[in-house]
Amino acid sequence: MLRRTVVTGLVAAPLTGLVAARANAAAEPASGRPGGRRPRSLVIGHRGAAGYRPEHTLASYELAARMGADYIEPDLVITKDGVLVARHEPEIGGTTDVASRPEFAARRVTKQLDGIAVTGWWTEDFTLAELKTLRAVERLPAVRQESSMYDGRFDVPTLAEVLQLRARLSRELGREIGVYPETKHPTYFQGLGLALEPRLLATLRRHGLNGAHAPVFVQSFETTNLQRLRRLGLRTRTIQLLGAAGAPYDLVVAGDPRTYADLATPAGLAGIARYANGIGPDKGQVVPRNPDGTLAAPTSLVADAHRAGLLVHPYTFRAENGFLPTELRRGTDPDDFGRAIDEQVTFLRTGIDGLFTDQPDVAVVARDEVAGRTAGAA
Ligand code: G3P
Ligand code: CA
Repeated sequence: MLRRTVVTGLVAAPLTGLVAARANAAAEPASGRPGGRRPRSLVIGHRGAAGYRPEHTLASYELAARMGADYIEPDLVITKDGVLVARHEPEIGGTTDVASRPEFAARRVTKQLDGIAVTGWWTEDFTLAELKTLRAVERLPAVRQESSMYDGRFDVPTLAEVLQLRARLSRELGREIGVYPETKHPTYFQGLGLALEPRLLATLRRHGLNGAHAPVFVQSFETTNLQRLRRLGLRTRTIQLLGAAGAPYDLVVAGDPRTYADLATPAGLAGIARYANGIGPDKGQVVPRNPDGTLAAPTSLVADAHRAGLLVHPYTFRAENGFLPTELRRGTDPDDFGRAIDEQVTFLRTGIDGLFTDQPDVAVVARDEVAGRTAGAA
């Protein structure tokens, strides 16, 4: 396996070269697609810089920002005592060291999460104080061996801590670092009496971030909670996430037959435009793959969404061969890096307005290349 050293020491060290040039650039307008000049595409640090550090840790978010990400992305779940924390899902067996903690062994239980039986440890069964005793670990240690070097070093951050970090990094880097929180399993948490929405809104307000021009996008795979947030007084931009298959769980529960595929039609997009500012599709909905795994022709989704006045921020771009289209892989090891810059260049040329990536440095280079600012180019 080729080992990567691209990011080692970056957090503590001064920035150099292309990354520094982007980090020091004047802040771009963070609003959507206003009239006139089209804003540059946004680099959204997916779970921070999840390709290089255990996801959803302050270290992961900080590295993403220092690599040039415009936004950092905390997925939000909640503790027993009602505090929003950053984890990809309420079950934390794969992203913390909880399984090795004998004092919490009895908390391992099976629950129904959006209709699926899941066994493990759940944030809603831990107080914040208890959760803070845990340490984050790399979700994909076999793929991201370098990131797993940081296992056990970082705790689970609260949303408030992420917003404090965002403010500090914005000051230090001289550009606005945005935050792109996702409400995870809103129907599930609503059913537990631990609704995410009022807490998210209150936290954004406390940090002065509930404004139409605040550097914030709130995202959800469900539909009604984005609408509820508006009714509660959320003023930031919102993004309706779309799945490659299936349906929003709130619609399933309500007996509404619409699927994500329905929401991605022109009529569905017009409906989304009534309450959201954009869509976050699976990247395969923008450029699908052929049966042999190579990239096919782009769909009409970007044009359709833009016609409806919606931004398009697809997820998730990852640099390892195993996640890339077959023609962009390098060598035979699925965990080695492939031609990820080429993949992102292809997607950026479809007109997307931003992208979620585990390797923000790759996206910064791809975006510069599309804009004709490639370092060293003749
Ligand atoms: O939120 C967009 C992207 O993150 C896709 O969802 O949270 O499952 O990685 P997630
Ligand atoms: Ca997410």
